[in-house]
Amino acid sequence: MNLSQDRIIIRQPDDWHLHLRDGDVMKAVVVPTSRVFRRAVVMPNLQPPITSVQSAIDYRQRILHAVPKGDLFTPLMTVYLTDNISTEILREGFQKGVFFAAKLYPANSTTNSALGVINLENIFSAVETMEELGMPLLIHGEVVDDSIDIFDREKVFIERHLHPLLNRFPALRVVLEHITTEEAVEYVKTTSAKLAATITPHHLHINRNAMFQGGLRSDFFCLPVAKRERHRIALRRAATSGESCFFLGTDSAPHLRESKESSCGCAGIFNAPNAIESYAQVFEEEEALDQLEAFASVFGPNFYGLPVNEEVISLIKKPHVIPSQFQLIKGDKPFEYIVPFHAGETLNWSLDKNYN
Ligand code: NCD
Ligand code: ZN
Repeated sequence: MNLSQDRIIIRQPDDWHLHLRDGDVMKAVVVPTSRVFRRAVVMPNLQPPITSVQSAIDYRQRILHAVPKGDLFTPLMTVYLTDNISTEILREGFQKGVFFAAKLYPANSTTNSALGVINLENIFSAVETMEELGMPLLIHGEVVDDSIDIFDREKVFIERHLHPLLNRFPALRVVLEHITTEEAVEYVKTTSAKLAATITPHHLHINRNAMFQGGLRSDFFCLPVAKRERHRIALRRAATSGESCFFLGTDSAPHLRESKESSCGCAGIFNAPNAIESYAQVFEEEEALDQLEAFASVFGPNFYGLPVNEEVISLIKKPHVIPSQFQLIKGDKPFEYIVPFHAGETLNWSLDKNYN
């Protein structure tokens, strides 16, 4: 890594949690990711979800097809766990190098999770197989329970489900995805070297007030939902701490404008167009730019047992205003748009596309 007043050079980062969707949206949103990230863990919550080896192979192919010429980008595929997932499919997909990991969505916890896991006990044999194979389990860590306040669902998930799961499967490698609470930070830091967590840019920038600033702001609605300020501060400390159990995962989750602005708006924040710049801003504000490379480019591969990237990227200190829309094109015609995170705001760092 190389740091000066106005330039940051780091090993090329990877995104350990990404939603690319499918079809025309995927073709558009893969571009800002492959421009910066060398690899990304691609979430399987499509409609229908990725539950077979063949569907993951086909989806990977469609993604690779959409990557602009000249970008080196490796999508790492995940399989969507359901109550009746077969251990044979997990084994086959992992051993063939198709499934990088499996994703656990508690049923109805978030976007496209209706077919997720209703009862964790139903997947114990699958989890046992994963433990034996060394296949990582990626978890959306929120309970689905109307009696639990939405702001407490992550904390309760850790107590009720994650802790017992780790006790039962001590050799299992687990990533608690997109953590949002001080309790999750503490738990991940102190529990096991086999447990890690991803942290998104938006949870480092916003607290729950953002959703209600001057009105109802669906652009800041995601799951797990942003929490109180003390949690945001804990997440910023964790991300910039140099602790290897915390690494980059954007959870970039594009939704068309009309789906965000409906009477029942979708959860998800699209941050891919400015993700690395957004993280850089946080690390600068925390006076921890020297930790950016480890968080973005080293701790993830170390956890997953992969080599770090040899390529580098460079950011320059050049404030730029984030466009208010990310336009989607079909054929040559603009059709819909997505509002990106930081729309209309100024970020201090810009990717130097000419570097290398
Ligand atoms: C994600 C999506 O839209 O697919 N939404 C979100 O709010 N993060 C799903 C998820 O990761 O929870
Ligand atoms: Zn996600």
